[in-house]
Amino acid sequence: MPTTSARSQPVYSALVVALFLIGVGCSDADVAPTGCTAEGADCTLGEVGTEGGLFLGSTSEGAGWTTAPEGELLRTHFNSVTSQNELKWGALVRDRGEYRFTQADETVEFAEANGMRMRGHVLFWHRLNGPPRWLADELAAADDPEAHLRELMREHVETVVGRYRGRIHTWDVVNEPLALLSDQIDHESIFFQAFADYDDFLDHAFRLARAADPDAKLFLNEILPAFSETTFDGLYRLVQRLVERGTPIDGVGFQGHFVLGRPDRETLRQRLQAFADLGLLTEITELDVTINLFPDAADPFAEQAEVYADVYAACAAVDLCIGVTTWNPHDATTWLDVDAIFGGQAPHFPTLFDESLEPKPAYHAAVDAVIASPRLSR
Ligand code: XIL
Repeated sequence: MPTTSARSQPVYSALVVALFLIGVGCSDADVAPTGCTAEGADCTLGEVGTEGGLFLGSTSEGAGWTTAPEGELLRTHFNSVTSQNELKWGALVRDRGEYRFTQADETVEFAEANGMRMRGHVLFWHRLNGPPRWLADELAAADDPEAHLRELMREHVETVVGRYRGRIHTWDVVNEPLALLSDQIDHESIFFQAFADYDDFLDHAFRLARAADPDAKLFLNEILPAFSETTFDGLYRLVQRLVERGTPIDGVGFQGHFVLGRPDRETLRQRLQAFADLGLLTEITELDVTINLFPDAADPFAEQAEVYADVYAACAAVDLCIGVTTWNPHDATTWLDVDAIFGGQAPHFPTLFDESLEPKPAYHAAVDAVIASPRLSR
């Protein structure tokens, strides 16, 4: 069950009550119908999430986003926020030894001021803007790259997780361990290359994070397990090894960038449940659904809405699935449109809100899916 050290905030209090009702085995008769299931109720996604014990969120945007329309959008419609880029090692420490916390502080303060769950993304990631540019040179010059990296990781986690101790509820500790569409560790990863045994890298990362904030929920996050059976199998075996070893992992994030195809609701539910059966939390951490999946549809936005409904319903059907986060709050700023690979197929229109920040059919489908789930109706 998620816990938080910012327990005094109202959304957290409601979540704790909702999670108690869901998770502690009350009989159905003990649970009164909730406000969002009442006739004529018009709840936001954040409100149905709070009632259903789910963190339903979206991402931060660039500097100053909290006072831009995006801030208003998140505050109004969601109960959780994930840092999109500002907590990545490469963004925080562009120059060796020089942390720039201004943007991360802005997002963390926004979450606190609005009683929202803060999801920290990400301590260690080898792709895109994940690692700082100086890291490769520094490891190449080291006599013992593994020992040196262990020490750099310790400094980084103590500095960052320590700074936000008790304020960042959930951390992605490591992102995307697997090669794309493979069940094997990505050999291109700078972390794989520096450590003799990649599992030791993961174990070290999670132990450091646990020590720096014992109450934070620590996640391993992967890109394709909802869609690719190969990825799911590889991730499951990896996580099973970590659990058996005693690595302090609390949860597994399924990113959910649906560009290659759409997920199947029941398969997704089963895959989330598989990790729950290991005693772990899960979340859909980076949801977007490109409109290009439906080139022949009469109403592609209706098809997109069905996929969103599938994902929110699948998570809501698993007691230990604690949330769904969309990657970018609205279509005008989606990362897919500017990504080196996916940008070629722009525009994607992949989020819950259109370019005028109006809710799309997908938004209403997501709200309805949670309302119809056992979280609210039992
Ligand atoms: C993306 C951001 O959205 C972009 O702004 C940035 O340029 C690159 O990274 N998987 C992840 C996220 O885990 O960190 C990525 O975010 C999207 C894919």
